[in-house]
Amino acid sequence: MNIETLRSEFIARYAAQPEIFVRAPGRVNLIGEHTDYNDGFVLPVAIDKCIAIAARKRNDQNVILHSLDFNSTVEFTLDAIQRSAGVDGWSNYAKGVACLLQEAGYKLSPCEAVITGDIPIAAGLSSSAALEVASALMFLAFSDIEMDKIEMALLCQRAENQFIGVNCGIMDQFISVMGQSDHALFLDCRSLNFELVPLHLKGVLEVEGSRSQSKRDFQRYSTVDKSRFIGDEVKIVVCNTKVKRELAGSEYNKRRAECERGVDILKRFLPNITALRDVSVEDFNKYAEHLPPVTRKRCGYVIAENARVLASIEALRARNLGRFGDLMQASHAGLRDEYEVSSVELDAMVEIALNVDGVIGARMTGAGFGGCTVNLVYESAIEEFIQTIGLQYPKKTDIQPEIYVCNVESGAATYRCFGEALR
Ligand code: GLA
Repeated sequence: MNIETLRSEFIARYAAQPEIFVRAPGRVNLIGEHTDYNDGFVLPVAIDKCIAIAARKRNDQNVILHSLDFNSTVEFTLDAIQRSAGVDGWSNYAKGVACLLQEAGYKLSPCEAVITGDIPIAAGLSSSAALEVASALMFLAFSDIEMDKIEMALLCQRAENQFIGVNCGIMDQFISVMGQSDHALFLDCRSLNFELVPLHLKGVLEVEGSRSQSKRDFQRYSTVDKSRFIGDEVKIVVCNTKVKRELAGSEYNKRRAECERGVDILKRFLPNITALRDVSVEDFNKYAEHLPPVTRKRCGYVIAENARVLASIEALRARNLGRFGDLMQASHAGLRDEYEVSSVELDAMVEIALNVDGVIGARMTGAGFGGCTVNLVYESAIEEFIQTIGLQYPKKTDIQPEIYVCNVESGAATYRCFGEALR
């Protein structure tokens, strides 16, 4: 993200210097999918793709937002915020946040802004959450009120739930606010307690043999000389299927309702539960027969995925990357077969990836129905990885993928401008 370009765009549009810059990152989730709204566990990282805003205060009553990427300008007054439609729809994320901040008692100041970003849109990398968080930082910077960071993430989530109408969990907004460079964030979505897990991963011997249990996909892998990856850095590589997640909104809310239905039925046998998070794998196996087949599949997936996140943290602590990769693969299989939110393209992308030597794990990431996969790849294998995906994915799908080798960045931040300098 080039801040000088943003600054010159701002000056060209408003004939003045911006007073602040804010940036909020997108995210990729390593494991723990569709668990956040079930009070469960997730393990996302903030990536080096973000939404950035340059802004300054205005003296009238108006907020003017210009999106460089949509080439659209939206103007509104803070006391009469209406939803936008069509090409201006992007502005609803900022409007929703402004509404919710005002409802929470914050007195906001009018302002003008230029917004841009390099998070691919509708690709499952949380460009919406990043825009919400960046907007919150901008409005808060001009209202001179400090807000607790976690409160801010929760408020952005509420904006998405209430103003946009997607019943999302807390993961995306939380990681965009709280992420830390070179760390994954292990979050308990009920208590919001979290732990930053260091990600300086290097190939160690445990990786050997750990994938033998998944013979179908890994026959080739198991015959390679894995010692070549010992000491090798591990990178997070995101592959974009380039299929936009059109269905995501409606199917997402449906999945959430199915989980709630499951809890209602299981409560008859387990009166103390309030979410799928409270159901152990053993209890689920005992009572699963009382659930209708589809609900049973959905709940079975979520309960197993929560257990996988906990196991993946253990694997990271033990530096057992092979085990971590196995858990990612099991997660993908569950999302594909039980939660049914994968797609032909996501499955193809994962399958191709898993056949490249030096890929530790691969799975779809985010809500599903298109979007991206996340891959853990040894650095020395990245070139081959990119070549293989670039060759085989279009053969299978007729679509050109995009591949991003990601760095893990820190959460959102505000930079105040004093003349030319940023502080
Ligand atoms: C979307 C939602 C998140 C989470 C994921 C699936 O990204 O915004 O809250 O539920 O899907 O894990």
